Amino acid sequence: MNQPTAPELANAWTAVGVARPHESAALHVLGQATYTDDIPEVQGTLHAALGLSTRPHARFASIDLAAVRASRGVVAVFTAQDIPGLNDCGPIIHDDPIFADGLVQYVGQPMFIVVADTHDNARRAARLARVDYEDLPAILTPQAARAAGSFVLPPMKLERGDCQAAFERAPHKVKGELYVGGQEQFYLEGQIAYAIPREDRGMLVQCSTQHPSEMQHVVAHALGLHSHHVTVECRRMGGGFGGKESQSALWCAASAIAAAKLGRPVKLRADRDDDMLVTGKRHCFHYEYEVGYEADGRIVAARVDMVSRAGYSADLSGPVATRAVCHFDNTYYLSDVEIRAACGKTNTQSNTAFRGFGGPQGAIAIEYVIDEIARNLGMDALDVRRVNFYGRDTNNVTPYGQVVSDNVIHELVAQLEQDSGYRARRAAIAEFNRASPVLKKGLALTPVKFGIAFNVTHLNQAGALVHVYVDGSVLVNHGGTEMGQGINTKVMQCVAHELGVDMAHVRISATDTSKVANTSATAASTGADLNGKAAQDAARKIRLRLAEFAATMYGGDAAAVRFADDAVHVNGNCIPFPELVQKAYLARVQLWSDGFYATPGLHWNPKTMNGNPFSYFAYGAAVAEVVVDTLTGEWKLLRADVLYDAGRSLNPAIDIGQVEGAFIQGMGWLTTEELWWNGEGRLMTHAPSTYKIPAISDCPHDFRVALFDNANATDSIHRSKAVGEPPLLLPFSVFFAIRDAVSAVGRHKVNPPLNAPATCEAILDAVAAVEAKAA
Ligand code: MTE
Ligand code: HPA
Ligand code: MOS
Repeated sequence: MNQPTAPELANAWTAVGVARPHESAALHVLGQATYTDDIPEVQGTLHAALGLSTRPHARFASIDLAAVRASRGVVAVFTAQDIPGLNDCGPIIHDDPIFADGLVQYVGQPMFIVVADTHDNARRAARLARVDYEDLPAILTPQAARAAGSFVLPPMKLERGDCQAAFERAPHKVKGELYVGGQEQFYLEGQIAYAIPREDRGMLVQCSTQHPSEMQHVVAHALGLHSHHVTVECRRMGGGFGGKESQSALWCAASAIAAAKLGRPVKLRADRDDDMLVTGKRHCFHYEYEVGYEADGRIVAARVDMVSRAGYSADLSGPVATRAVCHFDNTYYLSDVEIRAACGKTNTQSNTAFRGFGGPQGAIAIEYVIDEIARNLGMDALDVRRVNFYGRDTNNVTPYGQVVSDNVIHELVAQLEQDSGYRARRAAIAEFNRASPVLKKGLALTPVKFGIAFNVTHLNQAGALVHVYVDGSVLVNHGGTEMGQGINTKVMQCVAHELGVDMAHVRISATDTSKVANTSATAASTGADLNGKAAQDAARKIRLRLAEFAATMYGGDAAAVRFADDAVHVNGNCIPFPELVQKAYLARVQLWSDGFYATPGLHWNPKTMNGNPFSYFAYGAAVAEVVVDTLTGEWKLLRADVLYDAGRSLNPAIDIGQVEGAFIQGMGWLTTEELWWNGEGRLMTHAPSTYKIPAISDCPHDFRVALFDNANATDSIHRSKAVGEPPLLLPFSVFFAIRDAVSAVGRHKVNPPLNAPATCEAILDAVAAVEAKAA
C-alpha cells in the first residue's frame, strides 16, 4: 500500500496516527466545557421565545399580540414587519421566512419572537397570541406530494445504459415499494443563539452551529448589513449531526433581529419540544423499485423512483436527494440503471442534513432489493452482495461516471466474514431457529461505500491560522466546528506533528468568522480532511521559515532540519523548540501563518448528474445478530462486528468512537425512532417521552469494532479517511438481521413486508404477514 513519502518521514513525530483523548474530554466529564448557554451573560441580557403556528397550512391577515405584550416580564415582540433586512434564512433557495408573513406552512412555523426578562416569562407569553387562520389544504406525506405534483425543486434523474431493455431480457424480476422513516437529530444541546450588539451597527452572535459563515451571512442579510458587521463564534456544540448545518440560522437571525431592535443582548434558547416542532429532520423516503437479475443473483437492470419528504421549503433537500441518487449503487456495479428522485413539498418541518445526508436513504433501497433477491433465489444474501460488488479493473464505474479506483470492499468483507465467524454462525442460527418456535434469530452482513466530499464542488475548501507565540506555545484557529466528533483533536495532532511538538503545547480557539473567512459548513464528513490540510499548510509554512532560520544560525541544509521531540534538530545540534522560536522572533521571522486547502480533482454536472463528485470512497461492513420475540415483536441486538476503513487513521480512539456512535445512531433510525404526525399535521413525537432514541441498554453486549488496515489511495491528510458519516450505514445489518429473523417464521420462503423503522409493532405486523402468506 502507499508508504509515506520521504519528506513526511523526515518529520515523523508521533502526534498523528496514535490514539489520543478528545482535546476536551476532561472538561466534558468535569462539566467545565463551555457551551453557548454557559457563556457568562452580559449585563442587560434579555431572553426570547418564538411564537409558533398551530396550523399546517393557512393564511392569516394579522396576529393579535395584545395578550403577549401584556404578559409578565415582556419587553418587546417582533414580527416579519419588524425585520430591518431580508425575511429569509434559507441556505440555497430563498424560500425560508424567518417569521411567517401572511402564510403558515407547517405546525410549528415561527410567526414572531417575544423578548422578556426571563426565559420562562418569554415562553409563557409566546403562547398567548391569537390568530385568525384561514385554513388551506395540507399535504402531509411524500406520497401525497408526488401524487399532487407538489415539489420544492424539479425532480432529478440519473440514467445509464438501457434499463428498460435489460429489464425485459432479465430472467428474474422483483418489484416493490419501501418506506423508510425520517429521524430527529436529537443533539443533546438544543438550538441556541446569543446575540450581542456592538458599536456602529456591529453584531456578535455566539451560537451552536456547524456553519458560522452561513450564520454570518443570514444575520447580515436580516439586519440589512454587510458581512463585516457581523461576527459569529462557536467554541463547540453539544452535537449537531447535520441539524445545525443550515437550521441554526433561524435562531441566529431571530435573536439578532431582537438584539438590533432593542440595542440589548438577546438569548434565544430552544426548549426541546419547540426545537423538535420547529426544525427539520432526516428526510423520510418512499421508493418504488423494479429490478431484473440473473440466476446467480447478478443485477442486470435497476430502476428506482424515490420521493423524499422535503417539508415546506427547499433547505438542503436538493443536495440530499443528489447524494441519495449517488449512493443507490452502494458497493454494487449497476450496468443498466435508472434512478429518479423528487423532493416532495409537504406541510411539515423543512427537512435538512442528518449524518449521511441522503446517502443512507439511497443505499438502503438497493440493500432491500438484494435482500429480496437472495430470498427469492434461496441464496445467502452475502453471496448475492458479493456477485454484485464493483470490480477492481472492470465493472468499476459508478452510474454517475466516477471510476471506483480505491475499491477494498472484497478484502474488507472477506476479513469481516472470517473474523466474525459468519458462516458458522449462520448454520448455528438455522439450527437454533429449527428448535425455537417463538424466539427467532437473524443474521446479516451489509457493506458500505460512501463518497467523501461535499457534492457541491465549491464547498470543498478550508482555511486555518496558526500562531506560534514567542514562548513556543501554539494557537490554532480553523474554519471547522467541534461538535464532539474530535475535529479539534485531529487538527491539533496535525499541527503538533508538523512542528514536532507535543500536543500539550497546542491549543485551539473557538471558530470565529473574524479569524478565518468564508468557511464551509463542517459537514459531509470532510471537517478533518479539509481543515487538517489547511492547518498543515499553515504549520508547514512556519516550519519552513524556522528551518531556513535554523540553517542560517547553525549551518547545514534547511531541508535536513528535523522537528521532533519538542526540539529542532539542525546540523548536529538539538535546540528546544521554544528556544529556537525565541531566537527567530528576535531575528524578525514571521511566526504565524495562514493556510488554505481546496480538494483537487472534483467536478460535477448537475444537469446530467455526471462527474467526479467525490475525492475518494470510504468503505466498511458490519455483521449483526439479533433475536426476535415473534409473539411481541420485541428484539435484541446480540452481537455486532464492525470493520471500518478509516484509511491510515489520524486517531484510532476517536475513529472507533465515531464508528460506535454512528452505528447505534443508525440503528435507532432504522428501529425505534418513529416520527409521527397526526391528521392535522402536528408532530406528536416531540420529546423523548414519545420519540425513542437508543439508550445504553440497546447497545449490544458483544460489540466488536475494528479499523481496516489501509492507506487512502488519494493524497488526503496523512492518508486518513473520513469517519463522521459513513458508519451510520453499517446498522443496515441490524435491520436486515431483524428481517431475516422474521423471515424464519416462514422458513425463508416469504419476503417480510418490513419498512423502517422496524418498531416492535412493525415487526409484529411483518410476522403476521409472513405467517399468513406461508400458511
Ligand atoms: N459526532 C458527534 N459526536 N457529534 C456530531 O454532531 N456529527 C456527524 C459526525 N460525527 C457528529 C459526529 C456529522 S453529521 C458529520 S458531517 C461529521 O461528524 C462532521 O464532522 P467531521 O467532518 O469533522 O467528521
Ligand atoms: N453533505 C453535507 N452538506 C452538504 C453536502 C453534503 O454532501 N453538499 C452540500 N451541502
Ligand atoms: Mo453532516 S449531515 O454532513 O452535518
